[in-house]
Parts: sequence; C-alpha cells; structure tokens
Amino acid sequence: MGAPRPGRVLVAEGELTARVAELGRAIARDYARENPVLVGVLQGAVPFVADLMRALPIDLTVDFIRASSYGAGTSSSGTVRLVADLAVDIADRHVLIVDDIVDTGLTLGALKRMLEARRPRSVRTCVLLDKAGRRETDVTIDYLGFTIPNVFVVGYGLDYDGLYRNLPYVAALDAI
Ligand code: IMP
Ligand code: MG
Repeated sequence: MGAPRPGRVLVAEGELTARVAELGRAIARDYARENPVLVGVLQGAVPFVADLMRALPIDLTVDFIRASSYGAGTSSSGTVRLVADLAVDIADRHVLIVDDIVDTGLTLGALKRMLEARRPRSVRTCVLLDKAGRRETDVTIDYLGFTIPNVFVVGYGLDYDGLYRNLPYVAALDAI
C-alpha cells in the first residue's frame, strides 16, 4: 500500500508557460493603468502567481490570502474559512484573485464575496484550471488557463496531502 503518485501529464510545462504568457497579455491590456492588487490564494496559486506577475509589465501590487483547505482529502468540505488575511487595504483598488483550480467553486465564491465586502473598485478572477461540470455554485472565471476533466490533479502548486506542489507540470493523481 503506497501513497498515490503523479501519473499522466495533463498540462505540460511548455503549455503552462505559453498560456501564462497569453493570460499576461490579456490582463496587462485590461489593467494597464489600474494598478491592480493580485490576490494569490495560498498555497496552491504560488507558482501561478509567480509566473503570471512576471508576465505583467504593468504597475501592480501582490498579496496573498489563505483559506482553509481539504487536508488529506480529495473533495470539498463545503466550508471555507479565512486562515490568513491580506496585508494591503483593497478599498478603492482593482482586485484580481488568482487561484490554482476551481472545482465546486465554493472556495473562490466565498473568497470573492469576502473581498467584495471591503469596497474594492472591482473584483475579478484568474484561475489556472477549471474542472468542467463540477460547479456547485456560480462563480465567474474572468481569465482561465485550462479546462480539465474531473480528475484529481497535482503539480504546479496543486498538492495531494502536501505533496507534489513542486512539479513543473500538472498531472493526474494515480489511484492507489
Ligand atoms: P472548490 O472549493 O471545490 O472549488 O475547491 C477549490 C480548492 O480545492 C482549490 O483551490 C484547491 O486547493 C483544491 N482542489 C480542488 N481540486 C483539486 C485537485 O484536483 N487537486 C488539488 N487540489 C484541488
Ligand atoms: Mg486552492
């Protein structure tokens, strides 16, 4: 009996690089004079934020927020708790939430509502991966990297029980 291991590669390193560059061009165009706050969702969005911010040749602020996670499980608990807050004041700022993956949408939806309550000028979302057909709540993804099938994935920030965030690609987790 071993721990599940990364298996089939769903998004290769080169595909990530190319897509992040495209997203960067779109976001840079839309936010050219807005000095947005990129809000990365810890821990999963770290590699994505790191690459995306360097693809944005505009003035911006980066900060991070942390919501409660699944722990060792592979499905949403439905409860979202803020465990680390932003350092910056987002009132009157344009906010772009950057997250790794949207599954049920509960996490991103809850985070968006929490940030909207602080009277920012706008809140939009940029998500690397969208699990098609899994949504339990309506949440708009304004900038999307890739749509993937309904499989548990790891790599490029995404973990299984704390492991595999460091992989430079996105892979399906092989069943035990
Ligand atoms: P949601 O609230 O169901 O949309 O789940 C969002 C969060 O669950 C993501 O930000 C991830 O942290 C985690 N998550 C969802 N699907 C996966 C996956 O396939 N691999 C790793 N983490 C996942
Ligand atoms: Mg996450």
